[in-house]
Amino acid sequence: MTFEEKAEEAARFVRERGFDGRFDCAMVLGTGLGRLVDDLEEVVSLPYAEIPHFPESGVSGHAGQLIAGRMDRKRILIFQGRAHYYETGDAAAMRVPIAFVKALGAPPLVLTNAAGSTKLDYRPGSLVSVTDHINFSGMSPLFKDTSDGRFVSLTNAYDERLRKKLKLAASVTGVTLHEGVYMWFAGPSFETPAEIRMARTLGADLVGMSTVPEVILARYYGLKVCAVSVVTNMAAGIGGASPSHGETKDVATGASAGLRRLIRGFVGGLDDTSA
Ligand code: HPA
Repeated sequence: MTFEEKAEEAARFVRERGFDGRFDCAMVLGTGLGRLVDDLEEVVSLPYAEIPHFPESGVSGHAGQLIAGRMDRKRILIFQGRAHYYETGDAAAMRVPIAFVKALGAPPLVLTNAAGSTKLDYRPGSLVSVTDHINFSGMSPLFKDTSDGRFVSLTNAYDERLRKKLKLAASVTGVTLHEGVYMWFAGPSFETPAEIRMARTLGADLVGMSTVPEVILARYYGLKVCAVSVVTNMAAGIGGASPSHGETKDVATGASAGLRRLIRGFVGGLDDTSA
């Protein structure tokens, strides 16, 4: 069975369980950011474990549920938790869920994550709109794909129109939103101070263990995508920092109020396709 056939099967399965109709936006919620779903009405949810071909996410701070709901007049599909390369050893761990977004009508995709900052003025709690990435892992979710589509362009991967809408939402809601380049490290260990010096020298403002494979997959499937990082810590060695997962989860949870406001403003500014 191909990834796309698996995604179609998963889509049929969820449609029969209330995930029907059109979605205006799909969203992946990172570590500690799951509370965004509290802003939804008419909520339907399904654990990933029940959805055919979906990965299981076992990281604490990641719930592993698919959720549909309404935010104001918009219908939103939420992935509460993601599968990571470091859990599975498979950079394509999110291929079925991303193909599934396409199967459900290809709404714009917003990825969120917790990230370390290499910049002293992007403090813990800051929100950053990702403008570009550096794939330092050297891995690709498209390894072994044989289609010509695998040679996907990643110029303007982080959709300019969606990024403009994020900026506008930030100014309307009074949330400070920075911009930055995200570097993907495979994890699960945190980086060394030497690696962070390298990352900063190479132009990375943020470091993290997710998102990049999902962006590559989203572009492969023709989805418009953008990403917002919540800075949970200064990256290793910056100001003497030594990150921990506990700190990451706590700060992400604390910063999620700003992200919720931003996302609400962003969703309000999306084109209304549900009318
Ligand atoms: N490094 C990698 N991933 C992360 C970090 C970090 O410092 N913080 C949150 N996710």
